[in-house]
Amino acid sequence: MNPQIVRFDYNNVMADVVGQHGLTEAEIEAALPHAAAAIEAVQGHRADLGWPELPYQNTSEIIELAQEVRARADTLVVLGIGGSALGPIATQTALQHPFYNQLPSELRRGPCLYVPDNADPELNAALLDVIDLERTVFNVITKSGTTAETMAAFLYFREALAKRVGEKGLAEHLVLTTDPRKGALRQIAERGGFKTLPIPANVGGRFSELTAVGLFPAAVTGIDINELLAGAAYADKRTQERDPRKNPAAMNALIQFLLDQKGKNMVVMMPYASRLRDVADWFRQLWAESLGKRINRAGDVVNVGPTPIKALGVTDQHSQVQLYAEGPFDKVFNFLFVDQFMLEAPLTNPYSDINETTYLDGKSFEQLIKAEGAATQLALTEAGRPNVAHHFPAVNAYTLGQYYYMLEMQTAIAGELYNINAFDQPGVEAGKVATYALMGREGYDERRQEIEAARGRHNDDYVI
Ligand code: PA5
Repeated sequence: MNPQIVRFDYNNVMADVVGQHGLTEAEIEAALPHAAAAIEAVQGHRADLGWPELPYQNTSEIIELAQEVRARADTLVVLGIGGSALGPIATQTALQHPFYNQLPSELRRGPCLYVPDNADPELNAALLDVIDLERTVFNVITKSGTTAETMAAFLYFREALAKRVGEKGLAEHLVLTTDPRKGALRQIAERGGFKTLPIPANVGGRFSELTAVGLFPAAVTGIDINELLAGAAYADKRTQERDPRKNPAAMNALIQFLLDQKGKNMVVMMPYASRLRDVADWFRQLWAESLGKRINRAGDVVNVGPTPIKALGVTDQHSQVQLYAEGPFDKVFNFLFVDQFMLEAPLTNPYSDINETTYLDGKSFEQLIKAEGAATQLALTEAGRPNVAHHFPAVNAYTLGQYYYMLEMQTAIAGELYNINAFDQPGVEAGKVATYALMGREGYDERRQEIEAARGRHNDDYVI
């Protein structure tokens, strides 16, 4: 058996463990043909979807450019949002030192990395206070090449850069990751002669972490991106398995789907490791944007979609777990556990004569976090709350790549089960259109008038 396998344990969703809020063997058995058909459907569209083939890409262009940037930059700033930011953040948090940017350069594996990920004026302006523009490279990432937040960030930092290094110096400080042909950013790259990396045309934002979107920033900060892809390739092999019982992506998609049908329409992802905190954030977007849909494939209005929630063990034990254990039976929990941390952080206790602290003597933080994870899982199970667990042997590039791919496949299979298109995002696009209208973009006048008319109907009596 591969010792690097991320194992999936669904014992605690079974009704004989959690009672009436769980699933019976008969319910699972009856749904297996549906899951098998979903696997078949996704596998049948691999080439069109694009992202299932990403583990097998040639990474030499990304690695070469990353080497160049590593040689000349102290800082990499990623300008992107949504699928163009959450993956790079998650990979960085998972695989680097928790205080990476604060480490002295000789202890870092590469340049500092900042991903502001918002259109907030104070946040973006503040970044200029902590970076040296002459030693900074900006990686602008947008699949569409037009998203307002990212284009605004590009303009903002481009101006600051131009003032410092001159128009001619810009090319040394920019890497633009975007669609191979379309979009404003592509045009800008061509006009300015800026370096670019392509996002395959058929791969959408939230499925793009294993393209240059996630791989380039990771390679710049010294992460072994081929190892990420090797893990993803292993997950591809596992999730091509046609028997859902042997396919963790299909089995978890089916469990979450069946429990949603039974009123558990919230999916809490709760890692017991700070390293995996932002993986839960990345998953939140993947699950929400892919499955939250108004219409199904037949065009019927269905308004489906489980709500993903991120939590962090042990932090949220002291914030959310009271609700999880005793509140409504509307949630299914996905725990992420780590078998082996990179270090144990042992505790010595000079106060071991004080009874209430004696048990900590000779223990470690690793023991404590593991005990708390097991205790919370047990408490929720005993409270009749269905939960699954993903066990990471360790958090490394191989297991992370494996898990990303597994969750992408799980999402695609869930899309089939819900019979919706998991790969569009009309709700997000509607927000983008409204933003363009409010910001006065040409061609959006009609929408702007509609919005202004709606604003005109706003009743001040209801504002206190
Ligand atoms: O998954 C998606 O498609 C979206 O969430 C996008 O990632 C997000 O809107 C950013 O889009 P873009 O990369 O085109 O700037």
